[in-house]
Amino acid sequence: MNEDKIESILQEERKFEPPADFAAQANVDADKLQELRDKYEQDPDAFWGDLAREELVWDEEFDTVLEWEPPFAKWFTGGKLNVSAQCLDRHLDTWRRNKAAIIWEGEPGDQVTLTYQQLHAEVCRFANALEGLGVEAGDRVALYMPMVPELAIAVLACARIGAPHSVIFGGFSAQAIRERVEDADCKVIITADGGWRRGEVIRLKDAVDEALEKGCDSVEDVVVVRRTENKVDWNNERDHWWDDLVGGQSTHHEPKSFDSEHPLFILYTSGTTGKPKGVVHTSAGYALWTKLTSRWVFDLKDDDVYWCTADIGWITGHSYIVYGPLQEGATSLMYEGAPNYPKPDRFWDIVERHGVNTFYTAPTAIRAFMKWGEEHVDKHDLSTLRLLGTVGEPINPEAWMWYRDKIGNNECPIVDTWWQTETGGHMISPMPGATTTVPGSATHPLPGIEADVVDKDGNSVGANEGGFLVIKRPWPSMLRTVYGNPERYKQGYFGRFGDIYFAGDGARKDEDGNIWIMGRIDDVINVSGHRLGTMEIESALVSHPAVAEAAVVARPDEIKGQAVVAFVTTEDDEPPRSLGDDLKQHVVDEIGVIARPAEIRFTPALPKTRSGKIMRRLLADIAAGRETGDTTTLEDASVLEKLKGEAKGQA
Ligand code: PRX
Repeated sequence: MNEDKIESILQEERKFEPPADFAAQANVDADKLQELRDKYEQDPDAFWGDLAREELVWDEEFDTVLEWEPPFAKWFTGGKLNVSAQCLDRHLDTWRRNKAAIIWEGEPGDQVTLTYQQLHAEVCRFANALEGLGVEAGDRVALYMPMVPELAIAVLACARIGAPHSVIFGGFSAQAIRERVEDADCKVIITADGGWRRGEVIRLKDAVDEALEKGCDSVEDVVVVRRTENKVDWNNERDHWWDDLVGGQSTHHEPKSFDSEHPLFILYTSGTTGKPKGVVHTSAGYALWTKLTSRWVFDLKDDDVYWCTADIGWITGHSYIVYGPLQEGATSLMYEGAPNYPKPDRFWDIVERHGVNTFYTAPTAIRAFMKWGEEHVDKHDLSTLRLLGTVGEPINPEAWMWYRDKIGNNECPIVDTWWQTETGGHMISPMPGATTTVPGSATHPLPGIEADVVDKDGNSVGANEGGFLVIKRPWPSMLRTVYGNPERYKQGYFGRFGDIYFAGDGARKDEDGNIWIMGRIDDVINVSGHRLGTMEIESALVSHPAVAEAAVVARPDEIKGQAVVAFVTTEDDEPPRSLGDDLKQHVVDEIGVIARPAEIRFTPALPKTRSGKIMRRLLADIAAGRETGDTTTLEDASVLEKLKGEAKGQA
C-alpha cells in the first residue's frame, strides 16, 4: 500500500439494526451508550475515575486518574489492587463461587470444569508453588503451554504474586522461545510435555530444552504439566512436574496488593524491525478495560456460556478468555485443539454440546468454515447462539454475511472488534444492542476511545478518504512501553503524530462515521489474523548460509487473508533444487510454523531504489500478479523485468 495516499474502493450498502429483542435485554442499549459518550465528553477523568471506582476492588484507593507525560501514561496512581483477586476472590462470597469459571475441552474429547472456587484453589496452590521456587514480585515467568486449564491457572498465579507473565504461543520455535526468554530475563519457564493438535503431539518440552541448551541463562526452574504422556528428557536440577510441585500446597494464598501500574504481563508481537517487541501491560487500567469491554461488547450475562476460540498465547486469549470474562464472573470456554479435528464440524459440535451463547473467532476461521462446506454446520443445533464476534483482521463482507446467515441464523448481532496487542482491549467495535452494523466495518470507537483517521500531517480526513488510524488520547489499557526499550515505544507509536498514538493501520471513515480498517501500512503482515514482521522473516532467511538477500511481502490469500512470499537471492548462482523447501523449514525453525512462507522465489537480484532500499511494494505487486505501481525510483529496471518475466513463466 502506498504510504502517502491510501485509497479504498470498498462500498457497502447493507445495514443491520440491532434486533429489538436483543437491544431490550442488552447491557448497553442506545440510551446507555449515549449516556456513556456524554459523560466522557464532559469530563474524561471523571468518566474513567468513576468507572475504576465502580468496577475494581481496590485495596487502596487511587488518588490520580491519569498522569500523562507524553508518551508515557500512568493510570489510577496511588491505588493498590491484585488482578487475580479481581478475577477470582471477588466472586467467592457471592453465589458465583459455585458457577463454572472455565469449561475446558481437550482435543481428544476430555473435559474439565472449574468453578470459581475451584479455580481459585488451583491458582492459590500454584501461586504458593511459584513462591516456593523463589519467584518474587517483579520476576518474569515465561509460559509455553498448550491450551490446557493449567495455562489459565499459571497466568492467574503469576498475576497473584505480581510476577509478570510472558506467554509464548505454543506454535513458536525453540529459537523464538530463546529470544523472548532472554529479552525479559525470565526466571522460570512453565511448559508441558506436549499438547494435542490434529491428533498429533506437539512436543513443547523438547522445544524448551532446545532453547535452554544454548542460552537462557536467567532460567532457574522449568515446570512441566503432564498432558500427552510422551517421554521427555529430564534435568533433575531444573525440571519439576507440575503435579509434584502443587501436590502439597495450600489452597489458600493471600493476594498481595500491587500498585496500579505494577507490570502485569509482557507479550511479544511483531513490529517493523527484525526483533519482536515485548509489549508491557500494567495492572489496574488493563483490568478495568478488559472487564468493561467484556460486558459491553460481549453483552455477557450470568447464564451465558461464552467461547473465544483464540489461543491464550495471543492478546485475544489474555484479554477475552482470561482477564475480561473472569472479572465479569462469566463462564469462559477453552478448547485445546484444531477446529477441524477429528472432523470439520468440531467447533459446531462444541457449540451444540456446551450450549454456547457467544462465539468469538477470526475471519480466517470463518473463511475456512465456508470452504469446508455448510453440511458441517447444518449437522448441529446452533440455536443457543445469541451473539457473534470477530477479531484479528478485516473481515470481507461476504464472510460477514455467511457468518450472520449460517452461524447466526440471521438473528445474532455481529461485533467486529478492532484492537491490537498494544491496546489491551477492544477499541473500535459495535455495541451489539445499540449499533447499526455494516458488513466489513468495525463501526465506531467505544466510549472513552478517541480513535480517528488522519492524513499524514495529522489532520482528520473527510468522509471516505483514506488515512492513518490514530488514537488521540491515552486510554487505561494502553501498552506502557516496550520491555527494556522505551525508545522503541516512543518511535514506534508516537514517532509520527507527536502525542497521538499511531496504530500502524490504514483506515477510512464513511459518511456515517463507520471506520473501515484497510490493513497495516508498515512492514507488518497479517497471516490468519496473526501479525508477522516481514523483517523478522527476512532475518530468519538471511541467517541461512545459502541466502545472500531476502525480501518478504504478502500476497492476498483466500483463507489466510495474506500469505508470505519471499524473494531470495542466493550465494550460489545455481542453488540446489531442494533449497526452497529447506528455506521454508529454516523459517519454521527460526520463528515457528505460522511464519512458514507459502512461496519462495529465487531471483538474481532484488529491485532497489537508488539509495539501496529494497522496493517491497513492487515485489508485492508481482507476488499478487498485479500491474506494478510507480517505478520511477527504481535503480535498475531490468531487475524488475526479469522478475516479471519469471512470474509469467511460473504461471
Ligand atoms: O491490522 C489490525 C488487525 O490486527 C492488528 C493487530 O494485531 P495483533 O496485535 O496481533 O492483535 C490481534 C488481535 C487483537 C491490527 O493493527 N486487526 C485486528 N482486529 C481487526 C484488525 N483489522 C481489521 N478489523 C479488525 N477487527
